[in-house]
Amino acid sequence: MRDTSENFDTKKILQSPQPSATRGHENFKFVQAKIEKRVDESPSVRSFYLNAPLPSDPKPGQFLMVWLPNSEEVPMSVSGHEGGITRISVAKVGPTTEKIHKLNPGDFLWVRGPFGSWFKLDANFYLLVAGGYGSAPLVYAAKALSRSGKKGVYAIGAKNKSELLFLDEARDCGFEVFISTEDGSSGRKGVVTDMLDDLFSKFKFDSILTCGPEKMMFKVIKEGFNRGIYSQASLERYMKCGFGICGSCVLDPLGLRVCVEGPVFDSITLLKTEFGSWRRSPSGRREKI
Ligand SMILES: Cc1cc2nc3c(=O)[nH]c(=O)nc-3n(C[C@H](O)[C@H](O)[C@H](O)COP(=O)(O)OP(=O)(O)OC[C@H]3O[C@@H](n4cnc5c(N)ncnc54)[C@H](O)[C@@H]3O)c2cc1C
Ligand code: FES
Repeated sequence: MRDTSENFDTKKILQSPQPSATRGHENFKFVQAKIEKRVDESPSVRSFYLNAPLPSDPKPGQFLMVWLPNSEEVPMSVSGHEGGITRISVAKVGPTTEKIHKLNPGDFLWVRGPFGSWFKLDANFYLLVAGGYGSAPLVYAAKALSRSGKKGVYAIGAKNKSELLFLDEARDCGFEVFISTEDGSSGRKGVVTDMLDDLFSKFKFDSILTCGPEKMMFKVIKEGFNRGIYSQASLERYMKCGFGICGSCVLDPLGLRVCVEGPVFDSITLLKTEFGSWRRSPSGRREKI
C-alpha cells in the first residue's frame, strides 16, 4: 500500500469527495439511441452522435454501457453532450467495437447510464493528459471548463500523427495543445509523459485530469503528487455488470468499484490502491499490469 498523504491537505479533500451519480433505477434501463451523425476522428476512432432519452445529462468523466443485439455490452466514456445529443468516440479494437463502427446515421444502438463519478472542475488552470482514446472524456471536460471561462494545457500522446484526437476542439476550448507521437510524425517523439517535466516548468497548474493507459496515468498522478498538484484520473477496468455487483472492476485493497465509485478517482485515493500495478482479467484473476 502506498500511502503518500503527507503531501496534501487530505482532510480538506476527504470533506469534498468525488461527485458521483445518483444511482436511481432509471439509469439501469436500456434506452434506444438513434445515431444522428458519425464522424471519423482518426483511422481507428469514430464518433457517434446519439439521440438518446437518458434519465440525466451525462457529466464529463461519466460513461454509458453500450449494447448491440448479438454482441457484448461495452462501456464507453461520453466525449460530449450538447442540445440533448450525446457523443461517444469508439476505438475499433475488437468484435463489438468493430460492429459499432459499421453503424450509420439512422441506425440504433442501446445504452444504459450515465454511470459513475465525474471530474470535479473547480480549479482554474488545468493540465489535461490524454493517451489515445483516453482523450474522449478529457475533451468533454475541456468543453465544460471553457464554458466557465477556465483554460489550460491539453497534452496528448498517440502512436502517430493520424491517431491524434480532438486537437482542434481542444484549441477551440482555449487550451494550448502539446503533442507527442511514438514515431515522431508530429510533435515530440516519445510518449506523452516525456513532456511532463517541461510542462511543469513552463506552467503553474492548479489541477490535473488524465485518461489513458493505466501505467501512463500512474506516472501522471505521481508526478503531480510530488509537486503537490491535485489530480483526477478516469480509469478503464474490465467491466461486466457496470453497476457494482460482479466485482470485475474492483480496485483493491480499498474495494473501490470503478463502475460505481469511479471511473474518476483522485490521486490521494488511487495512491492507496493497487492502481498502476494490478488489475483483474476478464476471468476475474488478479494480474500484473
Ligand atoms: C469506464 C470505461 C470507459 C471507456 N471509454 C471508452 C471510450 O471512450 N472509447 C473507447 O473506444 N473505448 C472505451 N473503453 C474501452 C472499451 O469498453 C473496450 O475497448 C471495448 O469493450 C472493447 O470491446 P471489443 O469487443 O470491441 O473488443 P475485445 O476484443 O472484447 O477487447 C479489446 C480490449 O478491450 C478490453 N475490453 C473488452 N471488453 C471490455 C469491457 N467490458 N470493459 C472494459 N474493457 C473491455 C479488453 O480487455 C481488451 O483489452 C472504456 C472502458 C471503460 C471501462
Ligand atoms: S463491472 Fe461489475 S462491479 Fe464494476
